[in-house]
Amino acid sequence: MWKISVLLLLFSFTSATAALAVCTSSGCPTGGIWTEWAVTGSSNCSASCGSCASLYYTRRCVSQRAGCNCTGDTSRYIPCNTNVCTYPSQKSCCSPYLPMVINGSYICGPIPTDKSSATTSCCPTGGLLSDWSVYGRNDANTQWIRTRECLTADLGCSCTGDLIESVTACPCSATMNNIPGGTCDTANYQTEYFTNIVVNDTKCEATLQIQATNYINTVNNYKVIYCNHDGNYTTYGTPILLFQIAPNETRASTCAFDRPFDCGTVASTAASHPTLPVSFTCDLSSNTWQYDYNGWHVTGYNQPQLLYT
Ligand SMILES: *[C@@H]1O[C@H](CO)[C@@H](O)[C@H](O)[C@H]1NC(C)=O
Ligand SMILES: *[C@@H]1O[C@H](CO)[C@@H](O)[C@H](O)[C@H]1NC(C)=O
Ligand SMILES: *[C@@H]1O[C@H](CO)[C@@H](O)[C@H](O)[C@H]1NC(C)=O
Ligand SMILES: *[C@@H]1O[C@H](CO)[C@@H](O)[C@H](O)[C@H]1NC(C)=O
Ligand SMILES: *[C@@H]1O[C@H](CO)[C@@H](O)[C@H](O)[C@H]1NC(C)=O
Ligand SMILES: *[C@@H]1O[C@H](CO)[C@@H](O)[C@H](O)[C@H]1NC(C)=O
Repeated sequence: MWKISVLLLLFSFTSATAALAVCTSSGCPTGGIWTEWAVTGSSNCSASCGSCASLYYTRRCVSQRAGCNCTGDTSRYIPCNTNVCTYPSQKSCCSPYLPMVINGSYICGPIPTDKSSATTSCCPTGGLLSDWSVYGRNDANTQWIRTRECLTADLGCSCTGDLIESVTACPCSATMNNIPGGTCDTANYQTEYFTNIVVNDTKCEATLQIQATNYINTVNNYKVIYCNHDGNYTTYGTPILLFQIAPNETRASTCAFDRPFDCGTVASTAASHPTLPVSFTCDLSSNTWQYDYNGWHVTGYNQPQLLYT
């Protein structure tokens, strides 16, 4: 479990630079938002004059994490010690630079300009926010919290919306879909037994008490499934679960079965309806329940009864 310190967040607001105008259109500012150019590697200029050496500068696209790509280079060489060389040096500037007056000073230029050198042209409306972090327990272990960053804060562009969100309940839904049998497979399901999960909000675990009611009912022609009982297929009732698999789970079907308990575990008559527990754990990166036994991310379930044929 993650402990997220609120203090860290408060300190992430660094001093803001001069206020930029608010962008006229919403969404990503044209060209994205860059950090300032910063010398990367050695900051020692290997020549003392004449623009004869360069320093390596890089910058980072701040807005990328918010889905706004930047245009322009991420690295560049800029000549250093651009002052014109004096006697006894044999030349005043290294090629291709020439002595010229720029901004009132006599230097070896021209200094290459980067057309997209501005960090950003304007503040996006509402700022740019990072995605939410994964939920974690707060320090007092009383709540689930998640955080996000205002990516444009350093540029003086404030964000609208909370940067921290806390909930008492487990972020995975307290209910799961009651999937109708027909959604997942044949029309052979006659009855579905659905009971709700019970969520432990502190542990983010859920328990489902499945009903062991899938006895052979020859009168109504129902059965659950034949099960392999010590090598012989028998008609003992056994609980099966039909799952609806979460959309991102790379399975051939969005439906899957599991038989959490062996056949013979449960009563095979209608009279006794014991319940048996199966458990799920909340996957906090997707806030989807995972079936503990095999790790499937599931959005729903049911306990169907097959037509006995
Ligand atoms: C940079 O140059 C100065 C003076 O020449 C020298 O004292 C220093 O050690 C150099 N630093 C690096 C990182 O090379
Ligand atoms: C941003 O750049 C990434 C990586 O180059 C690319 O996959 C993505 O499609 C771009 N997004 C937009 C909105 O252009
Ligand atoms: C011109 O010089 C002033 C004062 O030194 C400086 O603030 C400014 O950034 C310079 N402009 C350019 C384009 O170098
Ligand atoms: C949830 O789990 C915690 C930790 O195991 C336990 O202390 C607590 O009693 C459980 N809550 C409920 C309602 O069962
Ligand atoms: C399985 O079936 C065979 C043949 O009918 C029988 O001899 C054997 O005892 C059965 N095994 C069990 C465990 O019921
Ligand atoms: C589904 O998404 C969750 C979170 O995004 C991830 O943890 C899980 O591994 C994914 N499943 C697959 C099969 O990619």
